[in-house]
Amino acid sequence: PEPLNIGLFGGGTVGGGVYEICEESNKDFLAGIGADVKISKICVRDTSKARDFSIGAHTTVVSDYKAILEDDSINCVVELMGGVTNAKDVVFEAIKRGKHVVTANKALLAQYLPEIQELLKQHPEVHFAYEAAVCGGIPIINVLQNDFFGDKISKICGIMNGTTNFMLSKMESEGADYDDVLKEAQALGYAEADPTADVEGLDVQAKIALLAKLAFGATVPVDTVPCQGISQLSSADFEFARMMRSTIKLLGTAMLNADGSKLSVFVSPVVVPLTSPIAGARGAGNIVVVNSRNVDTTSYSGPGAGRFPTANSVVSDIVRIARGMATPPFPYDKDWTFET
Ligand code: NAP
Ligand code: HSE
Repeated sequence: PEPLNIGLFGGGTVGGGVYEICEESNKDFLAGIGADVKISKICVRDTSKARDFSIGAHTTVVSDYKAILEDDSINCVVELMGGVTNAKDVVFEAIKRGKHVVTANKALLAQYLPEIQELLKQHPEVHFAYEAAVCGGIPIINVLQNDFFGDKISKICGIMNGTTNFMLSKMESEGADYDDVLKEAQALGYAEADPTADVEGLDVQAKIALLAKLAFGATVPVDTVPCQGISQLSSADFEFARMMRSTIKLLGTAMLNADGSKLSVFVSPVVVPLTSPIAGARGAGNIVVVNSRNVDTTSYSGPGAGRFPTANSVVSDIVRIARGMATPPFPYDKDWTFET
C-alpha cells in the first residue's frame, strides 16, 4: 500500500466525478479499505469557471499543468483532460518523473502506445492504469489484462461508444433528428470535446486498437484501422433493418482469420438481428463480446459513458494502485500480419 497524493488533470465530466467519489461520497470507505488517497491539486483550463462539484479547502485549483508535474509531493497523476497535445506532455512527463498514472484517454493511448510502453519499461516503478479508456463503466480492460491467460481469444467485438449508441437508439425508436440527439448526448456528458471523434467512429477506432493490444498482444497502427462512423446513416437504413427484424449498431471488431494467422481490426455500422445481445444495448450502453477457445462466448455490458460510470473505473484504478494491487498494463506483445 502507498499513500497517493494526486494531481488531477481535468475537472470536467469525469474529473468532477472522480473528485466527488474520492473526496466526498466514498472518502471514508476508501480510507477504511486501505486506500490512502488525497487529491491535493486540480488542473483545469479556466480556474474562474463555476464547477458542478464542490472542491475542498485542501485542494488547490490551477491552470499551469507543468507546476503540478514539478511538485515532488504529487506521486500520482490522474489525466482526465482529453486531447493528445497537453495530455501527452502530462502523461509522458509524469512517467519520466516516476509518478503513477491513471488516464481515461484512449486517443492518446492508441496513438502513442509504443512510446508509452517504452517509457514504462524505463520506469518500472510507475504503475499505469487506463480502465476508463474503453467502455466507460465496464471493467473490460481488467478482464482482458487478467482473465484469459489460459485461453485463446479469436474475436472481440461490440459497441464501444456511448454517444453513437445513444443516438442510434433514439433515431431508431423515436425517429429522433440526428443533430438534436447529438446535442442531447453532448449535454449528458457522453460526447468527446469534438464529437466528430464519436460520430465518425474515431473513438471506437482507438478503443478497438487498445482491446486488440490486450486480447492479441497486437500493436495496431490506429490510423490504418478501416473506419466508418454513423454520419451517413438515414432513416431509410433503419427501415430496411426493421424489415429484417434487425437494428443498426456501430461496432468495433478485432478478429483472427480461420487459421489464426492474421488479424483484422475494423469499425463500421452493422445490421444486427434483434435477437442478438448486442441489439439489446440501448442508450449509452456498451457491450463487448469475446469469443475464445475455452469459455466460448462471454459478454460484458453496462454504461459506456457518463460522469459516474466512468469515474468509477478511474477510481478503481486509483484504489488498485494505492493498495499495491496494480496490474501490468499490457500483458503481452505479439507481432501480427494484419488483414484488411
Ligand atoms: P471534459 O468534460 O471536456 O473535461 C475536460 C477537463 O479538462 C476540463 O475540466 C478542462 O478544463 C480540462 N482541460 C482541458 N484541456 C486542458 C488544458 N490544456 N489545460 C488544463 N486543463 C484542461 O471531458 P471529459 O468528458 O471529462 O473527458 C475527459 C477524458 O475522459 C477524455 O480523455 C475522454 O475521452 C475520457 N472519457 C470520457 C468519458 C465520458 O463519458 N465523458 C468516458 C470515458 C472516457 P475547463 O473545465 O476549465 O475547460
Ligand atoms: N465519447 C465517448 C463515448 C466517451 O461516447 O463513448 C466514453 O469513452
